[in-house]
Parts: sequence; C-alpha cells; structure tokens
Amino acid sequence: MFEGVYSVPKGVSYNSYLLQDEKTVLFDTVDKAVHHRFMENLTHALGGKPLDYLVVQHMEPDHSAVISDLAARYPSMTIVCNAKTLAFIKQFYDIRIDARVKIVAEGDTLNTGKHNLHFVMAPMVHWPEVMVTYDSTDKILFSADAFGCFGALNGALFADEVDFARDYMDEARRYYTNIVGKYGKQVEMLLNKASGLDIQMICPLHGFVWRKNMQSILAKYGLWSRYEPEEKAVMIAYASVYGNTENAAEILSSNLRDRGIKTVMFDVSVTPASEIVAAAFRYSHLVFASTTYNAGIFITMEALINDLVAHNIQNRTVAIIENGSWAATSGGLIRTQLEKCKNMTFLDNMLTVTSSVKAAQLPEIAAMADTLAATLLVKEDNLSSPAASKGIDASTMFKISYGLFILSARDGDKDNGCIINTVTQITDNPIKISIAVNKANLTHDMVVNSREFNVSVLTESAPFSLFQNFGFQSGRNTDKFAGYDENLRTSNGIRYLAENTNAVISARVTEILDCNTHSVFIANITQAFTLSAEPSATYQYYFDNIKPKPQPEKDKKVGYICKICGYVYEGEPLPSDFICPLCKHGAADFEKL
Ligand code: FEO
Repeated sequence: MFEGVYSVPKGVSYNSYLLQDEKTVLFDTVDKAVHHRFMENLTHALGGKPLDYLVVQHMEPDHSAVISDLAARYPSMTIVCNAKTLAFIKQFYDIRIDARVKIVAEGDTLNTGKHNLHFVMAPMVHWPEVMVTYDSTDKILFSADAFGCFGALNGALFADEVDFARDYMDEARRYYTNIVGKYGKQVEMLLNKASGLDIQMICPLHGFVWRKNMQSILAKYGLWSRYEPEEKAVMIAYASVYGNTENAAEILSSNLRDRGIKTVMFDVSVTPASEIVAAAFRYSHLVFASTTYNAGIFITMEALINDLVAHNIQNRTVAIIENGSWAATSGGLIRTQLEKCKNMTFLDNMLTVTSSVKAAQLPEIAAMADTLAATLLVKEDNLSSPAASKGIDASTMFKISYGLFILSARDGDKDNGCIINTVTQITDNPIKISIAVNKANLTHDMVVNSREFNVSVLTESAPFSLFQNFGFQSGRNTDKFAGYDENLRTSNGIRYLAENTNAVISARVTEILDCNTHSVFIANITQAFTLSAEPSATYQYYFDNIKPKPQPEKDKKVGYICKICGYVYEGEPLPSDFICPLCKHGAADFEKL
C-alpha cells in the first residue's frame, strides 16, 4: 500500500539522483522500505568520494527516510533546502543540522563545477515545502513528485523504453489524480514556470525518467491540472447491496451503448477508490447509482463521493440514480456533496428506484440516456455549418508537406529508381520509416525481392529533367542511372544521388502492407547521412517552381492534362479508370484543358 491507502499491485519506484561533478550532489533519498539497497547503491556510485550536497526537494518520508543516516555517514555533507523544508526535517527527525544547512529560495542557484542548479519553488505539488531543481547545464528538470507514476520500473529507466501509453498511462493518471489531483492550480503554476525552460529530461521521484516524447505527459498534465476530461464518455459508479441498483446502472449503460456512447462501470464496493477517482478525471460524464443505507448514502459510495470532493473534481456532467425501499435519500445527499465542486452540471431527471427496476420505469432510464446523449453527441446544428457538407477534395492532400525523393534499389545486377513522395519517420528507437510505392513501378518489385532500398532526399535545385528521368519512364526499358557516377553506392550496394540531394537514407524492410495499388514498406534505418544544407523540395514547391506550367497547343481543342507530370490526353470523356502512362497517376489527377 502506497501512503498506506493506495494499492500498488505493480509496485512503485522511489527515485534518487546522484550528480557527479566537481562536487557530488544527491537529489532526495528514498523510502525506508528500500533503505539498505539505496545505501549500497549510493556507496557504490560514489566510489569512495564524499557526498558534498543533499538537495531535499520534498520531505514526505517516502523520499526523506534516509536523511539522518546520510547526515551521520557523510559529516561534511551540506543539506540544501528551503526554510519550510528545514522545519519539516526537524519535525520528522531528531538531528542537529542547522550548522550544515544551505537555505535556498526561488531563483537561487548552486554551482557544482560544470553544473548550475536553479531552485524553483513548487508549493503543494504535493506538500507545501516542495521545490524542483533545474540543471541549466544538462537541461534536466528534477521534478519532485510531478510527472511521477505508480508501477515498478523492472529494469527500464526511461519512459521511451516501455510502451508507456499502453502499460503505464493508467497508473500515471491514478498517481497524479490521487496524489496531487487536489492541487491543480499549483500544478498549473509549475507547468507555467517549466514552459519557460529548455527541458531535455525530466527526473521525477517516482516512475520513469522522460527524455523523449515529453509532450505526451505534459499534455496530460495540462488536462488534469485544469480538471478537463480526456474523453467524452460516461463513467458509471454503483453501490448495490442486492444487485437491484446495479441492475438500474446496467440498464442505463446498455441504453447509452445503444446510442453509441462509450461507458465504463465500477462497482464501488470492490474497486479501489483510487481507480474510480482516476476514471472520474478521465471521463466527461459521471453517473452515481447508490442504494440508501441508514438513511444516508451507502458506505462505499459515500467514501467515494467524499474522495472525489477532496480531490477537487470539477467541470463534469453528473447524473444520479438512487434506490430506497421506504425512504430514498442517497441521491439528494450525493448531489449535495458534489455541489461543493466547481462547475458541475447536474441532470434534472434523477432516477429513483423503489427496491427494484420495473418495466414501467424503463422509459425513465431511456430518458436519462437521451439527456446524457444530447450533451455527448455532435449536435445536428453543428452539421449545418458550411464545412459539414464538404466531401473529399483530393487536392487537399497536396497541402500535407510531402517531400520528394528518389527511391533506389538493386536486384541482382540491376539498378533502378523512381520518384516517391511518401517517406515518413514512424518511430525513433529504433528509427523506422515507411514508404509507399506504386506496384506498377519496377523499383517496387525490386524492393519486394531485395528488401533493401535507399532514399535520396531531393532539394529545391532539382531540375524538371531529373523528375522526367526517374518519374516519367520505366526502368524496364531504360537505364535511369545512365550517366550517373557508378561508384555512388551506400554500404548496402544500392546507388544514390549526390547532386540535387541533401540527405541519403538506407533501410531494410521489416514489413510490407498491401494497400491495393501501392505497397507500404516499413523499414529499419541502416545508414543515414546528410550531403548539404539546401532545403528539401516539397511537393508544393515542385508544383509551384519546378514543374513547367502546362502549355496546351491551340489546336488541341478537347482533352485533359495530368496535373502531376503534364501528360495530355486528347479526347472526351477521360475514362474514369485512365492511368497516366508517364507518372501512373489516375484520372482524379487530370484536369480539363
Ligand atoms: Fe512521493 Fe509526495 O511523495
């Protein structure tokens, strides 16, 4: 149990960080449960050097339990903390430390050799004495409890070493909402202070270190601190003694599902309250269904409601179902409690069940589902906006900043290449890219066979003749690399372009997805280097500056011109299945002369 109340079936980590500079600095300590292993690790890491500073950012005992032992073991160690922290140290521990304390306040700094540490006060994230530290040398934020997470690390240190969104985000939400959820304003203030810093790494006191994709957790913190829901959906929490209140909740959930609305349900008597608090922060609409018990709210539901009020839940739409065999009161009492929270919208049609749901009451439950649905689904009015009736304009795709590339491959002794405009990085560890290639291209078949390819990134200086050479003819009946230096090959033996190119990427195919006319190749990068600082050519740049403007001859009265390569089809109409013989684009990419 974390803090004696939150179950942590997947464990929790207590993080302490050691900075080894001309001076050695420890940021916080750990819980007494891991005291022995921590001291062993610290002694090992210091390798016989003294510990010069202990920065105490947070005095909750899960991070401060080892302070007394450290003070005894390292007599020359200076404790760096703020005035509030010093008072807390004295409250918790019987140690004489006044002579070895350096008191810091907002904006104070400490130089440790190469590193400059800046202290930033963060009161109530999660206790009043909390401060965080910014190392402006390595651009690391030591963030105390902020950005922490339940769950043991199991050998990984960094959030990008695990599937955080799938395996840890729920625990990060449960940690945030239950530990610091009450202090949204203070978290917002810390986020505002942090937004002015160049942060390359976040080191929290629990959970993983963030060095990549920090935006994913920062965005969640933004929502959570403002009490804004992450999803439009309905959370139903019910407390039922004999199953009749549960039945009412189930019927409402079924009605909502029939209306296409996502629901999640919790039996509050068997689900840890911390999970339900986290879900209440996640979803936009909350339904509470409770039997009446001793003329009040059922015990477990009352505890949950108190917990939600204590955690400052706000900005939610609430519906209530109450049950009572002779004097139903739970619904009104729940509402009274939740009215203490800010900006809560209550549905007027509270449902009162008398012992059990009868068929005659089903329309009432359906009406509650309708009312909830009306606030959840896109309103018809919005569909009458000018944008609502727009279809698919294929030219919209040109607004995406496609680049232009020579895709090259080698199959046996054959070298070939073609123009593609779809190279996308999809992961960064390892670096994977995807490319989409028309199956009609010879290069497509060569990549399928060899499972290797190069991408040469074309620059704005690329002439139209280059596009004609690689894009408007087939490698089946011409050597597209004729005239190019035979020796320009990457380590995989595949040719690349050195002119009108600013970078070259080599990749090995790991997956091939069949997308009708095209194959999408997913590939691991095996080599990558840059050649120049010249800007990459975008598809838009190609249209505006490289491709000659169509000059239809006067005597060609009827026909269509390919917007991609300029090929002219004479005649009327243009067959809907027509494929441009030069660039292989379909009829949709032709316009009337
Ligand atoms: Fe992890 Fe507020 O202590």
